[in-house]
Amino acid sequence: MTTPAPRLRIESLAKHYGEPPDRVAVFRDVSFEVAAGEFVAIVGESGVGKSTLLNCVAGLDHWDAGRIVVDGTDLGTLDADARALWRRRRVGFVFQAFHVLPHLDVAQNVALPLMLLGEADAAARQARVQEMLRVVGLDGLGARLPQQLSGGQLQRVAIARALVHRPTLLLADEPTGNLDPTTAARVMDVLAAEARSQGAALVLVTHSESAAGRADRVVHLTALGAH
Ligand SMILES: Nc1ncnc2c1ncn2[C@@H]1O[C@H](COP(=O)(O)OP(=O)(O)OP(=O)(O)O)[C@@H](O)[C@H]1O
Ligand SMILES: [Mg+2]
Repeated sequence: MTTPAPRLRIESLAKHYGEPPDRVAVFRDVSFEVAAGEFVAIVGESGVGKSTLLNCVAGLDHWDAGRIVVDGTDLGTLDADARALWRRRRVGFVFQAFHVLPHLDVAQNVALPLMLLGEADAAARQARVQEMLRVVGLDGLGARLPQQLSGGQLQRVAIARALVHRPTLLLADEPTGNLDPTTAARVMDVLAAEARSQGAALVLVTHSESAAGRADRVVHLTALGAH
């Protein structure tokens, strides 16, 4: 029996910011794989490059060396347009700072990925959005504006939005940072269960030991000096 190809493969990835003499290596030689339905947690102290790594995997940032391969596609070979299209279809991203759009209500925010993908059936869209709001415990809040929500509720809007289009790669940056332990546990269950049932690779950055404890595997990023 052959082992299935990993959904996500990161090979010897390296990234720096700035130019000499201010060049700072953020990480180097980062390699790991994530299978379909697998949950990998990335941990490491503040500033080691966890968000930067996630941005690279989403094709939102550039890297200097190494490869990121998703379902056999080398992201480095895609031009900016192809990468944007790939991201829209395949990636769900829960940002550390939410990035919820303030002028759209909760349901419109969650529906956004479906709109961008051209899902024209309004009833199907609505049903999927309501399903996701229920899953993250925001039933009945679809008509609220983001400013009328708590931090934890906003975080759950961001999570519902990241899941709504059934991405194959689910990236989450501290998705439980603003949540009480009970809600955090529930949200982690939702992310892991959705990833598993959709066969998505879940890569989750966290400082929370209990969140990392739920992962199938933990990747430790460690600090580098200036180079
Ligand atoms: N645009 C940028 N230009 C220069 N340096 C940057 C830039 N973005 C991030 N950095 C630096 O790169 C390093 C990694 O940042 P990053 O945000 O990835 O860390 P992190 O591990 O996510 O930290 P945290 O746990 O605090 O969120 C930090 O030292 C940061 O100051
Ligand atoms: Mg970060």
